[in-house]
Amino acid sequence: MIKRTHPSLPIPNPIYGSELGSFAHDTVVRRLPAIVKRAIDENDFSEEIIRDLQTLITEIPDRPIRHLKDLKAPDEKEWQRCIQPHLGINWLEVPWFFAEFYLYRRILESTRYFRPGERGYLKDPYALQKQLGLESAKVTLQPLAASVNRWIADQAGMPDVIHRVLMVALWGNKADMSLWPIRGGDHAQIKQAEMDSEKIIINDSQIVVEYLCGLKPGTSRIDLLLDNAGFELVADLCLADVLLSSGLAGKVVLRPKAYPVYVSDAMVEDVEDTLVFMERQLSPEIDLVSKRLRNLLQEGRLTFQVDTFWTLPLALWEMPESLRIDLDHSDLLISKGDAHYRRLLGDRHWPPDTPFADIMSYLSPSILALRLGKSEVACGLEPGRVESLHQKDPGWMTDGEWGWIQFKR
Ligand code: F6P
Ligand code: MG
Repeated sequence: MIKRTHPSLPIPNPIYGSELGSFAHDTVVRRLPAIVKRAIDENDFSEEIIRDLQTLITEIPDRPIRHLKDLKAPDEKEWQRCIQPHLGINWLEVPWFFAEFYLYRRILESTRYFRPGERGYLKDPYALQKQLGLESAKVTLQPLAASVNRWIADQAGMPDVIHRVLMVALWGNKADMSLWPIRGGDHAQIKQAEMDSEKIIINDSQIVVEYLCGLKPGTSRIDLLLDNAGFELVADLCLADVLLSSGLAGKVVLRPKAYPVYVSDAMVEDVEDTLVFMERQLSPEIDLVSKRLRNLLQEGRLTFQVDTFWTLPLALWEMPESLRIDLDHSDLLISKGDAHYRRLLGDRHWPPDTPFADIMSYLSPSILALRLGKSEVACGLEPGRVESLHQKDPGWMTDGEWGWIQFKR
């Protein structure tokens, strides 16, 4: 069989910030400078750093893209390659996906994230948002932990349990601090209404559950592309816990980000902070979950794999050969969140009725995408669906109210 490395269909144009009236345009022109401004407000940076961040704000959107000035950074070479084709053109003329990742990388350049000895060295500029995100998860943590403990004890009802924990992981994607900064008093609660399937545009959960329950118990490997820290990370750890503790998966590989990006995206440090936060709650139910997770980590059934690829502005089909070979060993790749979804689809203008499986034909492992729609990227819709969704909610593509569960075997 020929192994594909690209989608089996002609690849459409990328989404650009220059598309007037689009969410991408609004993001580049209004939201990206606001994210830099918030990083200034929420940190105690030196005058030099503040000056560089303010310069960055003035560059958006009309100033030209330039190379990074981080010559010793571990991702410098890859970034040089990504930036080269866009040198000299402005933030609206580059693909939207590039503009966003470039912004987050320029923030790290300004804060001296990669410069040993500087105050900003390895300091997460979004630490406050992440901390508030965890605090806001507090109310939901106790009932979620109690449910997970009950679900794990209920081996007989496994298909239903998998379904439920997938729903929690899906709606956990609401906790995205690049779009909705956390303010004191916010609570990342999953309302019952949100668990309702009528708010799910495409729902392949049934076949996913069948697929998972059909895996050879205890031997399969599942890879989880982590998205946001805070409540979503708690939900994703619960998903890993259920998959492993039920024996459905032999191993779960967590794939966090190597560096701070998209404000709330989780890094290895955030997983550790989350476990410590859970332990501090002094709740027997939450303790049970965190103890299981610590044991799974110790046994090596729950592991981390960190790659800089996930912080680069590339489509998934542009992944390095080493990552492709590694993912080939996985039985299922679970992609969390909207930005990962955009990467799977190359952040392109696919006709909305393009089958998900046709686009994803470049990937050998099975793939499950769980996302709330926060961008004008879509596929897999029946003819006429776009119009009917638009009638129900004109903001359906980007308001984070609508769930997507898409699966390719
Ligand atoms: O700028 C908006 C946005 O970039 C979405 O389009 C993007 O995909 C999202 O932020 C981050 O969402 P998530 O945390 O679900 O990946
Ligand atoms: Mg995110």
